[in-house]
Amino acid sequence: MDERPIGVFDSGTGGLTVVKALRDLLPDEKIFYLGDTARVPYGGKSASTVERYSLEIADILIEENAKIVVVACNTASSLALPKLEKHLPVAVIGVIRPGARAAVAATRNDHIGVIGTRATIKSGAYERELRALNPDIRISVRACPLLVPLIEEAWLNDELTDRVIGRYLEPLVREGIDTLVLGCTHYPLLVDALSRALGERVKLVDSAHNCATAVRELLDRQEFRAPSGTLGGLEIALTDTPDNFLRVAREALQLEIGEIQLREVLHGAATL
Ligand code: DGL
Repeated sequence: MDERPIGVFDSGTGGLTVVKALRDLLPDEKIFYLGDTARVPYGGKSASTVERYSLEIADILIEENAKIVVVACNTASSLALPKLEKHLPVAVIGVIRPGARAAVAATRNDHIGVIGTRATIKSGAYERELRALNPDIRISVRACPLLVPLIEEAWLNDELTDRVIGRYLEPLVREGIDTLVLGCTHYPLLVDALSRALGERVKLVDSAHNCATAVRELLDRQEFRAPSGTLGGLEIALTDTPDNFLRVAREALQLEIGEIQLREVLHGAATL
């Protein structure tokens, strides 16, 4: 039994989709969420920058006494997980492995599609995880950099968004995927639009939900669950003013978001 908070971080507020899944699955847990809104987006940045930012942000979660650190960002999970695992004094969970596992379990024709930011796709992280689980799997990937801004504009059910999705996904559908991994924490809000574009033939794998399940398994394994009946809760801190997604997430995810705190990133604080 452990009443310390689960530390969750993202480049901005996109990781609130993971928080929503965690709140639903683990209502007794306290969550401390930190969004690096001063430096979002991570999706177009280099691997070394994303590693450095992730270590600096995770250090703040350790100061907040986090019992585990959840990397609620596909870009940071793709590029910084090994460094975080090496340097943090607590267990670290990213979104890539849980999403890959769920995709391999879901596919019937062993052909999986993955969409994400440019950095996530370029890293090849999903391909590595998927191939480790099934070396014969076929994988079609596509970076979709226009989707995050459309989601932040709250154009979730919009003709223009449908057209952009159609254009991005057309090659993946043509190649024959039957499962699509939503490899960015913003994308769960596009589930309706993606389902419209793909129909019932393609299953959607939401990394937020699968990450929450992996967190529950880890807490059980380490006997780190909060005592049942404890009042769980959510604290949100940002490194700058909220980005647009906060408003969208509050409405679409129906998350209780109290007062937002501010945290300063101490450059070089990270144990690189
Ligand atoms: N949260 C990021 C991800 O899941 C998307 C936003 C960004 O580019 O920082 O990849």
